[in-house]
Amino acid sequence: MPLIPAALVNLALPLTRPLAAFLREDVFDYYGRLLHPQLQLRRVFARLKARRLEGEATVVLTLSPSRNWRGFRAGQHVAVTLEKDGVRHTRRYSPMRAANGRIEIAIKRLKEGLVSSLLHEEADSIGYLEIGQAEGDFVLPDTLPPRLLFLAAGSGITPILAMLRELKARGYQGELNLLYYGRQRNQMAYLDELRAYPGLHLHVCLTGEQAQAGEQAGRFSAAQLDALVPKAEGSAVFACGSHGFTEAVQAVWQQRGWQGLACESFTPPTWHLEDDKPVTLTFARARRQLAGRTGGTLLEQAEAHGLKPASGCRMGICNTCTCQKREGAVRDLRTGEISTKPDETIRLCITAPVGNVVLDL
Ligand code: FES
Repeated sequence: MPLIPAALVNLALPLTRPLAAFLREDVFDYYGRLLHPQLQLRRVFARLKARRLEGEATVVLTLSPSRNWRGFRAGQHVAVTLEKDGVRHTRRYSPMRAANGRIEIAIKRLKEGLVSSLLHEEADSIGYLEIGQAEGDFVLPDTLPPRLLFLAAGSGITPILAMLRELKARGYQGELNLLYYGRQRNQMAYLDELRAYPGLHLHVCLTGEQAQAGEQAGRFSAAQLDALVPKAEGSAVFACGSHGFTEAVQAVWQQRGWQGLACESFTPPTWHLEDDKPVTLTFARARRQLAGRTGGTLLEQAEAHGLKPASGCRMGICNTCTCQKREGAVRDLRTGEISTKPDETIRLCITAPVGNVVLDL
């Protein structure tokens, strides 16, 4: 039970900002936490205000962040960090505007998803969640175009819905189309809200069960796009879903030479590694030397050997897995670039060894 009320903490937080340069953050945070979980110099803790189910697989948490939070633009994402058995776990979610200055995040339960399971089962007992500042440039432009086309698959609906809520708040009068893909209808979150959204041309596309009247069947394809949105060319387009989904959308836009597509994916790409040779991985702080290979990321190899480096998105976005490479050659899997610099900062989830590597882990 906090010793001081949240209202007082949030009145006080802006007053600490001019002093931040003179205070020791760890000391301030330690004593602040004893008085109230949100009394932190820079870190943001959000209070869980409500929890509800959306569809059969998604839980929606309504959160009230402390005044250390700088807000967000619809479509951005935030890091949510939980501690379990002394290990911090971070995942990224797209916040959505909710009533009274609060935000919502939607968490789909994933098989073997530690954080999603905790947030589904134990959110009530957690009470406060640590969230990061909002990041990302998957956002609406300041000047809104006359036609907007949204393509969402699965959990990709959350940044899209954040944008739709934003558009409603801004009184958008242009043309709005949404193709929303899901395996099964009862697992698709926010269908009721989307069906009631004024002026939205909603196309529900089912990939794992029979479509009913007013629904479509099958995965995203150029033919389906043409049939559902004949004027897609020239629309500003936002696509969000798994890596495979956004790749399929990009391929159509590239093939046709269309502009105006912004994509965001929430699953890591499958890396195509040309070779798989044996190397030695040295984890200097753990004092361990292990057999590695060039055909896998440093993160998955460290985990396979029982190490637990911090990680979040697993696709090079959140920087949670950042670590120092002391020596050795590594490849950035997004660009293919090889680097041999000593004492270099790398992200373990998007880096593969090219030869023997020493890591500050
Ligand atoms: S886990 Fe997010 S950047 Fe590596």
